[in-house]
Amino acid sequence: MSLEWIEDAKRRAALEAVKNVKDGFIIGLGSGSTVAYAIKEIGRMVREENLHVLGIPTSYQSFLLAVESGIPVTTLYEHPEIDLTIDGADQIDLNLNLIKGMGGALTREKIIAAASKRLIIIVDERKLTDKLGRGQPVPVEVLPFAEPLSAREIRKIGGKPFLRVTKGGAPYITDNGNFILDVDFEVIEDPYELNRKLKMIPGVVETGLFLGMAHTVYVGTKTDVKRIEKE
Ligand code: A5P
Repeated sequence: MSLEWIEDAKRRAALEAVKNVKDGFIIGLGSGSTVAYAIKEIGRMVREENLHVLGIPTSYQSFLLAVESGIPVTTLYEHPEIDLTIDGADQIDLNLNLIKGMGGALTREKIIAAASKRLIIIVDERKLTDKLGRGQPVPVEVLPFAEPLSAREIRKIGGKPFLRVTKGGAPYITDNGNFILDVDFEVIEDPYELNRKLKMIPGVVETGLFLGMAHTVYVGTKTDVKRIEKE
């Protein structure tokens, strides 16, 4: 089956989401290939439509793209409260709970999401699931010093951790200087309980479970964009 529709679906979801951006907003800029469309569009509005916004990027990748697109950037120190964050996701369930972090930016993404009055998620429809964890590992950022211990404790709570590596085989290093364990939990029945257990493990910096954080999701399908609101 042709996968050409996917880029179109991502772009359409991103363009719909950007319609929520208002003049004067502090905007959290998520990471990944779907958000890249949103960042480029916000940049176009800054350059061509005299939109005044400040962006807070969640990764070096989105920082560089924001600068290249002409979006002035700021920090949480200058603007601890963010009006709106637009971000992608790796999996979304029916309650708008998310798994994020396949791009490695989960920790900064969660901090920016938590600092935001509103979190909009943009995805193509392949990311929708009835239960989190089905065919999707949970990325967990861990301190390199603690990795053997963190991995052992993760196994004790039923996960199969795999250290993320680069193409060359070296450990993947996050923007925060840490490692990522991609943890297979199979189908996750209680994501809140799992998140709580993971966060109790020494060395775990952050998990890719984003629970109760998303307000609105735009889903790009083969033909249109669906908007889902948190109940
Ligand atoms: C980055 O760490 C992730 O949380 C991304 O938001 C996620 O991987 C989505 O990326 P794509 O839009 O490229 O699928």
